[in-house]
Amino acid sequence: MDDFDWAAMADLLELEGVTNSPSVRQALQELHDLTPRRVLDVGSGPGVAACLLATTFPQADVVAVDGTPELLARAEERAGRLGVRLRTAVAEFPEGLAGLPSADLVWSGQVVHHVGDQQGALNHLAGLLEPDGVLAIVEGGLPARWLPRDLGFGRPGLQARLDAAMAQWFTRMRAELPGSVAVVEDWPGMLRTAGLVQVRSKSFLVDHPAPLAEGPRRSVRRSLERQRELLDGLLEAEDAATLDRLLDPDDPVSVDRREDLFLLTAKTVHFGRRPAR
Ligand SMILES: C[S@@+](CC[C@H](N)C(=O)[O-])C[C@H]1O[C@@H](n2cnc3c(N)ncnc32)[C@H](O)[C@@H]1O
Repeated sequence: MDDFDWAAMADLLELEGVTNSPSVRQALQELHDLTPRRVLDVGSGPGVAACLLATTFPQADVVAVDGTPELLARAEERAGRLGVRLRTAVAEFPEGLAGLPSADLVWSGQVVHHVGDQQGALNHLAGLLEPDGVLAIVEGGLPARWLPRDLGFGRPGLQARLDAAMAQWFTRMRAELPGSVAVVEDWPGMLRTAGLVQVRSKSFLVDHPAPLAEGPRRSVRRSLERQRELLDGLLEAEDAATLDRLLDPDDPVSVDRREDLFLLTAKTVHFGRRPAR
């Protein structure tokens, strides 16, 4: 695994998961013709998508799989609160996957890019499928937008520069992963290389307009705090100062108080099917 402290990110991951859940709901509508007996959510984190899977496929044995036991405990709490049937399994990607049962649907959201060998990871995920089973991975999509181009202070266009700095950070993060393998990140092509057929990609909008409700607003704050931390040293001083003002709860222009804060993003899901025997 990379050296992220995933357990410490539990609140952020759950908030982000809930905020992005409209995209998961839309993606699951694409799978309405499935009647899976078993569903695995690999890299489930705190289980937001896993609980949606359990709600969508109540007849299925749904298993949330993750390398971080603290996050699986959150997933169990969440499932208990929502009254859905969910099992959990601790497994490190990819070595631990061999011990998992096969499934008719394997879902994996924003996890593969945290594994050094992404093609190898997809091969392992595809290997978990029953004949005719479906793999759905969430990768790519669009960076989130949450503020107007001109904030009324600082240099306009902050988000475009944050995206560029995040792209730099991401490249470094990938290069430093254990066993990192450079690959053309052609997700549909990689699913085909993993032996899957009927491969297709579809993107789903997450659109929380201004003024933002409490949940998405907190999610924007947590994402910004994380970007501020990750991008330390990668931003111009003026942009770092602008971020500090946006994050200062006592500042009238902060994200906690702005009426113009919104959250618009798109998540891409790549689907592939294991050939029937
Ligand atoms: C970005 S989060 C995604 C969580 C969730 N799937 C979602 O879409 O919100 C990545 C998750 O993958 C897990 N993870 C990352 N690398 C892993 C590895 N090598 N083995 C097992 N789990 C891993 C982390 O613990 C974390 O829960």
